[in-house]
Amino acid sequence: MTDYKNSSLTLITSEIIPSAIRWRSPSNIALVKYWGKHGNQLPRNPSVSFTLSGAATDTTLEYKARMESGEGADVVLYLDGEKNDGFTKRTKLFLEKLFPIYPFLKQLSLTIKTSNSFPHSAGIASSASGMSALALCLVSLEETLFEPFTDRAEFLAKASYLARLGSGSACRSVYGGAAVWGALAALKGSSDEFAVSVTENLHPTFQDYHDDILLISKSEKSVSSRAGHGLMEGNPYATARYAQATRRTDEMLTVLRQGNVDRFGEILESEALTLHALMMSSHPPYVLIRPNTLAVIERIHLFREQTGHPLYFTLDAGPNLHLLYPHSIAEPVKHFIREQLLYFCEDKMYLADRVGKGPERLEVSDQR
Ligand code: PMV
Repeated sequence: MTDYKNSSLTLITSEIIPSAIRWRSPSNIALVKYWGKHGNQLPRNPSVSFTLSGAATDTTLEYKARMESGEGADVVLYLDGEKNDGFTKRTKLFLEKLFPIYPFLKQLSLTIKTSNSFPHSAGIASSASGMSALALCLVSLEETLFEPFTDRAEFLAKASYLARLGSGSACRSVYGGAAVWGALAALKGSSDEFAVSVTENLHPTFQDYHDDILLISKSEKSVSSRAGHGLMEGNPYATARYAQATRRTDEMLTVLRQGNVDRFGEILESEALTLHALMMSSHPPYVLIRPNTLAVIERIHLFREQTGHPLYFTLDAGPNLHLLYPHSIAEPVKHFIREQLLYFCEDKMYLADRVGKGPERLEVSDQR
């Protein structure tokens, strides 16, 4: 077990110069899904994802010495320039959870200014990008106030660990390319506590793969991810599912290395449908896909049959479809989306994204 608890990370507050740290961190899309957790945000099975490029959260963490000592964390969060009470509360709880690791957080007053690159109303979860951006800011803050990390891999592993405590799948977003979260016998260094990068094993075909996100519905989900994970505990298929996901993560790593786009797609689509089948077989059962999700899936299958192009879909815990495909077929796919699929999307909206290079530390004054 990794133990980041460290009571020596406390400050002489009179020496703190108020300043700020800023990170931009992307979202990720799971190829093999994490669904089911235990203990302190530990996964029931390994998962693997692509980190995206366009869908990202930009977070600035402003800090100064806290004047009056209080019980919990002293933090206020602004989303797109407006104070957000819901996110402030969630962030406060997250920071308090980190007190044993970062006791200095009790000694600071924090202002977090955050914004997403994708429209707020798009119905896309921002927890992976948001929590990873905040975790990166916190590890950079540790470096600023104490000692720099000598090893970048250690910096990222710690950021991934902290991100996981905020939102499980966020731990995969600290790396560009592809990342695995969860202990896998065949993958040295892999862990349930933080993600590891598998970008070096990515075939060139996958390095700039496309992910176009079709916004079937922008409404709030009727069952949250947190509740969904919880319902896996009573799911009759849980044990078989966890074993399947472990095998598939293993196989997916081989597929990603070899550049086998068809096997990639087979696993991808089966993972999406299995995830939603698990929801439908939970107690109580629930359905998050919409009729238009199925209409689009049928058309994707038809498109593949008629053209032979390796266009495949996946879903996360909602009705929106991610369309994954190699750059070589970008033109016919974009045409197909415009002509045949946008009709099924709310407000005819989709977001074009690609596999990305991972988070970036920005200058606080940078206007991006
Ligand atoms: O990280 P959470 O608790 O929001 O769960 C994410 C679950 C899925 O997106 C459905 C799968 C995954 O591995 O990202």
